[in-house]
Amino acid sequence: MGNEDEGKLSIITRKFLQNRPLNGYWQECLAWIELNSLSVDSQDVFLKATAGHELSLKYPGSLSYRNMFLTRFSRQVDAACEPYSDVLCELQMMAGAPDDDFHHATYSFGGGVWATFRQSARMSDIEAVVWPPGLVLSELLVTMGGKYGTVLELGTGTGVCSIVAAKAGAHKVYATDLPSALPLIATNAALNDAPAVIPATLDWCADAEVQAGQLDAMAPPDVVIAADCVYAPDLVDPLADLLLLIKTRHPTCDIVIASSRRREDTQEFFRRELGRRGFIGSRVGQAQAMVYLEGHERESVVIDRFTLALPGDKSLG
Ligand SMILES: C[S@@+](CC[C@H](N)C(=O)[O-])C[C@H]1O[C@@H](n2cnc3c(N)ncnc32)[C@H](O)[C@@H]1O
Repeated sequence: MGNEDEGKLSIITRKFLQNRPLNGYWQECLAWIELNSLSVDSQDVFLKATAGHELSLKYPGSLSYRNMFLTRFSRQVDAACEPYSDVLCELQMMAGAPDDDFHHATYSFGGGVWATFRQSARMSDIEAVVWPPGLVLSELLVTMGGKYGTVLELGTGTGVCSIVAAKAGAHKVYATDLPSALPLIATNAALNDAPAVIPATLDWCADAEVQAGQLDAMAPPDVVIAADCVYAPDLVDPLADLLLLIKTRHPTCDIVIASSRRREDTQEFFRRELGRRGFIGSRVGQAQAMVYLEGHERESVVIDRFTLALPGDKSLG
């Protein structure tokens, strides 16, 4: 296989692993196969780059998509009177594996960092979906490399930013959320072999005393990160208060927050509330990313860094 073909194939693999939660993407793949009648050898190469890729086999996509893909793929092989390849037979056998509302997606974050997440196919499972701000902030953490040794993430959800921070070099990452989110964080940390990730409860709405106790049980963070946590107006005040509590206890830590532009009013309210508490925000990045849920589009995401003018604040400037 030439370099050009290998390059094309690695693009197909990357797109496939990332888009496999989307039915439309499997349909697109099938349409592509239909257009390019493949020989048995090329079928093998294509299947190994997509549905038969080691990550697809280990962390399968939705059962219904897998079945639809394999049924239509087999039909094409039949129609072309091609013999079935071993890879196709193997895939047909594993199509019977159990399924639920959860599936896996594998994302590439640049710098050779990949991560696979078990996530929900339902938008209402807010803490179990990988949201665009989580993807964009993760990419930023990769470009920062090992800048931050200890990371505290608020509202981590699937654990996306925490896991990527650990992969990018952080040696201790507190992946915090409500207690109900912790099992999935632990599953995803294990799936990505990220022992530096420590799932922990930190409820923005809990009493300040309870929060202080939870913070004191952690090593002092070099950075506090949060992605897609500014979405509900009633959570703005508790989140701003918690950030002030953290910053007062750890004056030198950075605060980096990624938010989707879809909630501009709430973002504005949040910035105002932080301003009232003495924080100054500066934009450090913006990009677009997808929600990997059926029927969803790209979203614009902005990343802000917040500093507080307190004596001893080394993060200013
Ligand atoms: C939209 S999700 C973002 C998840 C993840 N950061 C991402 O970008 O993919 C918002 C997260 O905030 C968490 N959350 C909501 N209210 C919270 C609270 N009171 N305390 C702690 N976490 C909370 C949710 O459980 C959820 O995981």
